[in-house]
Amino acid sequence: MEEESIESWLRGGFESAFPGNDFANVRALPASDARFGDFQCNDALAGARTLHMPPRKIAEAVFAKLMESRPAFVEKVELAGPGFLNITVSAGWLAARLAALAAQPTLGIPQTGAGRKVVIDYSSPNAAKQMHIGHIRSTVIGNAIDRIFRALGYDVVADNHLGDWGTQFGILIKGYRECLSDEERANLTVANLEKCYVLSAARAKEEDGVWKDACRAELVKLQQGDPENIALWKRFIDISIAEFDRMYAKLGVKFDTYRGESYYNSMMPAVLDRLEKAGLSEPSEGATIVNLEADGLGVAIVRKSDGGFNYTTSDLACVESRVRDYDPERIIYVTDDRQQLHFRQFFRICEKLGYTTKLVHVPFGLMSYGGKAISTREGNLIKLDDLLAEAVRRSLEIVRSRDASAAGEATPEQMRLAEQIGFGAVKYADLSHDPATAIDFDWDKALALEGNSGPYLQYAYARVCSLLDKASAVDGAAPSASFDISSPVEKQLALQLLQFGPAVLRAAENYKPSVLADYLFQTAQLYSSFYQRSPILKSEPAVRNARLALCALFGRVLAKGLSLLGIETPSRI
Ligand code: ARG
Repeated sequence: MEEESIESWLRGGFESAFPGNDFANVRALPASDARFGDFQCNDALAGARTLHMPPRKIAEAVFAKLMESRPAFVEKVELAGPGFLNITVSAGWLAARLAALAAQPTLGIPQTGAGRKVVIDYSSPNAAKQMHIGHIRSTVIGNAIDRIFRALGYDVVADNHLGDWGTQFGILIKGYRECLSDEERANLTVANLEKCYVLSAARAKEEDGVWKDACRAELVKLQQGDPENIALWKRFIDISIAEFDRMYAKLGVKFDTYRGESYYNSMMPAVLDRLEKAGLSEPSEGATIVNLEADGLGVAIVRKSDGGFNYTTSDLACVESRVRDYDPERIIYVTDDRQQLHFRQFFRICEKLGYTTKLVHVPFGLMSYGGKAISTREGNLIKLDDLLAEAVRRSLEIVRSRDASAAGEATPEQMRLAEQIGFGAVKYADLSHDPATAIDFDWDKALALEGNSGPYLQYAYARVCSLLDKASAVDGAAPSASFDISSPVEKQLALQLLQFGPAVLRAAENYKPSVLADYLFQTAQLYSSFYQRSPILKSEPAVRNARLALCALFGRVLAKGLSLLGIETPSRI
């Protein structure tokens, strides 16, 4: 509320200096350097183009107006450099703002998504394969974006677009019939499916082509609705989903729908019709294509020469179905960056077909492990399950090394804690990087208790909890309802806490959970310097309780922020 009044005051200054212009975007940003003030406004620079004036001249005119209308809580306004406006606010105002923040369950996260709907398509693994380390990014980044959008008030449909249809099922069915033992067939697991796929695919490469033809025949039967093959396919999918769900349960990931590619099968012919009616498709060597050469996007095949549809066709059917069923304002797709051309082509086709839904691809870079590309050849195609187990094992070592009473078997509490730390570490190692960059997964960095890591932030939270716990044993010690900002480091921490909502919003606007991770890490560092420099329990009661209030608010912001990254915050480590 009050911060808007900084902005409305600034806006008022611009408007009265330059009447008739639109200054709706004028912002008070946190100062880049605390020596210059608490907030800065750079909009004189932004206005130079539209106003055709040097930014410094604009800033001077605005500055004069701002001085005339300066509210009491603004202690100082300064004009600097090429046209920056530096603003210093009063400690009393900051304290009131903090109290207002603390009173909100949202902790200042703006509800910009209220009444708005988005579909987020993420994780989306291919069926009949075990999830491996390569799947972690789509799942973890997608889930963080999902949580962030929900926190902003959006109505989110989280959809798992499983790869559950395609030529691989011919190979799988043939492999299932011929390459597995009776026992393996009776106790079918995803691991067995993967195994029979590998065996069958290898045989499909044989010179005589007999195996390959048999796979094709199984596929055709499946596509034509042969009951036996359909039943097998269903079984493969059910087993796959059960296995994926086991991973999702560990990772705290929930989907609203699991509409895989097969869901759109019956809608494919209509897509072809629509493309044809719009004059977008053309025959080419027996196939049907959409020529996007003029857009610099090459050619997209929408029907293969054997009559089969493909990835682009199914994504086109999928958009139509999502628009019809949910009418979202945006659909967000989280996949690795090797699919960029696919999404550019498919988005361009949607545009030409007249869809108005905003389509967003969030591409992420590949993950390497120990400096090596992840591939079967490198022998480091680690199963997600094994990665998570290893995270828990390593975290358990840390937990037990910190617990003096640790001897013998690990207790259930220690196991639970090891999971919270291990899964948090794996997620944070990913989310702390800009999704667009390639990342290297490194255990020591992920599990470090110091530095920009999940465990460091969880530990910071546990320390606040233990401080508040300790305080509760002291007579009269409790976080006060009001705040009191009495030192520069407290002021910095207060300003930082007020930036929580804007940081969440920026993370969403840029589809980068890393923006939030950066914010949380900086906040924890500021808190740590505040904590080191400001005696708390040893201070006189009024100061002590006001500082406790700041600690408690920091704890809430940190826990909420981490929860938006899907990371749990145990109160004791
Ligand atoms: N199944 C695909 C893969 O594993 C990802 C699907 C992404 N979503 C989509 N609508 N295309 O690469």
